[in-house]
Amino acid sequence: MSVVHYYETMEYGPALEADGEARAWLKRHAAVFGHFIGGKFVAPHSGKHLTTIEPATGKTLARIAQGSAADVEAAVSAARTAQPHWVKLGGHGRARHLYALARMLQRHARLFAVLEAIDNGKPIRETRDLDVPLATRHFLYHAGWAQLQEREFADQVPIGVIGQIIPWNFPLLMLAWKIAPALAAGNTVALKPAEFTSLTALLFAELAAEAGLPPGVLNVLTGDGATGALLVENPGVDKIAFTGSTEVGRLIRQSTAGSGKSLTLELGGKSPFIVFDDADIDGAVEGVVDAIWLNQGQVCCAGSRLLLQEGIADTFRRRLIRRMETLRVGMPLDKAIDMGAVVAPVQLERIKSLVETGVREGAEKYQAPGAIPEGGCFYPPTLLWNVHPSSTVAIEEIFGPVLVAMTFRTPDEAVMLANNTRYGLAASVWSETIGLALDIAPKLLAGVVWVNATNLFDASVGFGGYRESGFGREGGREGMYEYLKPRAWSGRKARAKALPPPAPTADSAGFGVPPIDRTAKLFVGGKQVRPDGNYPRAVLSPKGRHLGEVGEGNRKDIRNAVAAARAAEPWARATAHNRAQILYYLAENLSARGDEFARRIADMTGVSGAKARVEVDASIERLFSYGAWADKFEGSIHAPPLRGVVLAMHEPIGVVGVACPDEAPLLGFVSLVAPLIAMGNRVVVVPSERHPLAATDFYQVLETSDVPAGVVNIVTGGRDDLVKVLAEHDDVDALWVFGSQEASASAERLSIGNLKRTLVDHGLLLDWYDRAACEGPILLRHALQVKNIWIPYGD
Ligand code: NAI
Repeated sequence: MSVVHYYETMEYGPALEADGEARAWLKRHAAVFGHFIGGKFVAPHSGKHLTTIEPATGKTLARIAQGSAADVEAAVSAARTAQPHWVKLGGHGRARHLYALARMLQRHARLFAVLEAIDNGKPIRETRDLDVPLATRHFLYHAGWAQLQEREFADQVPIGVIGQIIPWNFPLLMLAWKIAPALAAGNTVALKPAEFTSLTALLFAELAAEAGLPPGVLNVLTGDGATGALLVENPGVDKIAFTGSTEVGRLIRQSTAGSGKSLTLELGGKSPFIVFDDADIDGAVEGVVDAIWLNQGQVCCAGSRLLLQEGIADTFRRRLIRRMETLRVGMPLDKAIDMGAVVAPVQLERIKSLVETGVREGAEKYQAPGAIPEGGCFYPPTLLWNVHPSSTVAIEEIFGPVLVAMTFRTPDEAVMLANNTRYGLAASVWSETIGLALDIAPKLLAGVVWVNATNLFDASVGFGGYRESGFGREGGREGMYEYLKPRAWSGRKARAKALPPPAPTADSAGFGVPPIDRTAKLFVGGKQVRPDGNYPRAVLSPKGRHLGEVGEGNRKDIRNAVAAARAAEPWARATAHNRAQILYYLAENLSARGDEFARRIADMTGVSGAKARVEVDASIERLFSYGAWADKFEGSIHAPPLRGVVLAMHEPIGVVGVACPDEAPLLGFVSLVAPLIAMGNRVVVVPSERHPLAATDFYQVLETSDVPAGVVNIVTGGRDDLVKVLAEHDDVDALWVFGSQEASASAERLSIGNLKRTLVDHGLLLDWYDRAACEGPILLRHALQVKNIWIPYGD
C-alpha cells in the first residue's frame, strides 16, 4: 500500500492495546475462580463452575463458580459478621477505605480496562475513558459521603447486609454504583455480578482486600440467575439492589414482597432522542452515535428511539447515514474502533430476531457497510427508518446497536410519542432554543433528561427511572438514602392484633325522637357519591354503640376514584405557593371544627375528650407543617465535572393509593395525605377501617378549602380488599400502606403490573405524634421522584 493510498482513503490499521497483564492475572488463577467471601477466594460448595467466553472470539476465557444456597449463606453471613465492625469504624474510617479503593482503581486502571474489554467485548476506548474513570469517581465521591455521614445523615442508620445483583453491560461501573454508596453508608455487601462478565468484580474484590478492605465487607458471589434468586430469598439479606431486565425486576419484587427487605430496581428503557428542527444537526448526529452505539447499544438508557421533527427528517437521515459509513466495528482491544462485540451469542440472536421483526413490520433497514470481524458476536450499527410507534421494535428494548426512527410535527406530538412507552429511564432533547428544551424536559416521564447531550453520568447526579424502569436512585444525596433507614423507625414494634369488632348494642330510644340518620358516602372527584354496591358498613364505638354508617367501597369505586385522581393532573402543575395555601386553608377549616372532630374521635376510639383534642390539634399542626414544606422541599443543582449544570427537580409521582392505620384515625390520615398532596400528587385514600368517620367528616373540610376536585378521593370499606384493588390497578403509580402486615405484603406482591413504588409499614407501629418519625422529609422523600436535567453549556 502506498502513502498516497492512505492519504486518499484516510484508512488506518488496528492499534491493539496490550493484554499481557490481564492474561497473566487469569493465568495466576489458572483461569478458574471461586467466590470471594470473607476476604479470600473460596471454592464453591457444589464444586460447579460456569464457563465464561470472550465475546469477540468465542474462545473460553475462564471458569467461574456457580453459587449454591450454601455459598450464598456463607457470603451473607460473612457480611453479617463484618457489618457491626464496619459501622463502628465511623464515617471517617469508612471514608479512608473508600478513598483507598478509588486509588486502587486508579493504580490498576489499565488492567481493569483491558480485562473488562476482553470479558465484555466493549471497546477499550470506552472502558479506559468511561467505565474505569467513572467507577473511580464513584468511590471518591462516596468517600466524601462517608466522611460527612454523621453530620449530613444524622437521623439515618445503615440498613445492614445488602444483596446486590448487577448486569453485564457495565460490569465494573455497576459494581461501583452499587457498592460505593452501600459501603459509605455503613452496610456490608454480597454482590452477584452477571454470569457473562464476572471477572472485573473478582479482580476488584481481590485488589480491594490487598488495599486493606476488611474481610466480609465486600463479598462477591458468582453464578447465574439461580444464584441471584437464592440471594434474593436469603433471609439474612436486609435489602436487594438490582440492575437488569424488567422481567427479572418483577420476579424480585414478587419474591421480596412482605419480607421487610427494602428494594431498589434499575431496569430497562426505551429512551427517546428528540430532535427539533432548530437543533444543531451535526451535533445531534454525533449525539446519536453516543446514544445508541456506545457499548454496542447495550445501555439501559440508550437513546434508542429517534424522534425527528418532520422538516429536518430527510437531512438528518442523510447525515446520519454518512456518519454511519465511517463507524468501525472491530476487536475490543483495538483503540481505533467505535464498536466492539455484543456480550454473548444469545444476545446476538435476540438482536437479529428483533431487527427481522422490525423489517417484517414495515421498517426500512440501513446497516453500516464496514467490515465486521468473523467468528465473534458482532452486529453492525443499524438504523430502522419509518418505524410505526406500535411496531415491536419501537416498544421492546432491543439492547443492541439498533436505532429506530420516526417523525413528529409539533412539540406536543413529540412529548406524546416520547412518553408512549412503559419505561421512563432517560430522554435526550435537542434544540437550540433553550425555552423549548426546558419546556419539554419536565413533560418527559423519565428520571434523567439530557439537553443537547446524551449518556452523561456522574456520581453526584442521581440515576434511576420512572414507571417500569424501576424505582430508587443511584448517585447523589438521594442515592445515599437508598442505603439508609430512618433512625426513628428503627425501634418500631409489631402492631398488636386488632381485637374483634364489638358486638353492636341495641339502641333503645323508647318513644323518643331519633337523630336524623346520616350515612357517609364516598368522596370521589370532589363530590360525595353513593358507593357502587350500595351497601353500608356500620361504625361502632368500642362498646358497640352504633355511631353511624359509611359506604362499603368496592373495585368499581376504586376505579372511579383513580380516574378522578388521574383527571386532576393540573394539581401536579399547580404552583407550590398555591398548594401551600390550600394546606393552610385545610388547617384553618379543620381548626374551625376542632371540637366536633374531637368528639367524633372520642366516640369512635374511646379516648378521653382531652386526648381526642390533642389528636385534632396535632392534625392541624401537621397540615400547617406541610403547608410550610410545600414550597420549601425543593430540588437542587448539581455541579458534576462538566461545563454546565444539572437541575435535580422534585416531581410528584402521580396517583398514589393510601391505606390508613386504625390508630390515630385523623392524625394518621392527615400525616399520610398531606405530604403527598403537598408535593403535587393526587390520592385515593382508604381511611381507617375501624374508625372511618374522622375521614368522612373531613369531606366538608375538603369541600370548603378550595382543594380541586379529584386531588383527594376517599373510599371507605374493608382495607385489605381495597388495598389489593389499588395494588393491581395499573393507573396507580405508588401505594402507601400503613396498617397490617398482610396488607403490606399484598401491596408489594400485587404491585408488579406497573412496578409501583410502595411504602409500607409491615405491620409495625408508628407513633403518629412523633415528628421525627412521621413528619417532614422522612415522608416527603417518598412523595416525589427526582428528575435530573443535564444542561451543558458553551461550545
Ligand atoms: P437479567 O435481568 O436476566 O440479568 C441481570 C442480572 O440478574 C444477572 O446478574 C443475572 O444473573 C441476574 N438474574 C437473572 N435472573 C435472576 C433471578 N430470577 N433472580 C435474581 N437474579 C437474577 O438480564 P439478561 O438476561 O442478562 O438480559 C436480558 C435482557 O435484559 C437484555 O436483552 C436487556 O433488554 C435487559 N437488560 C437490561 C439491563 C439494564 O441495565 N437495564 C442490563 C442487562 C439486561
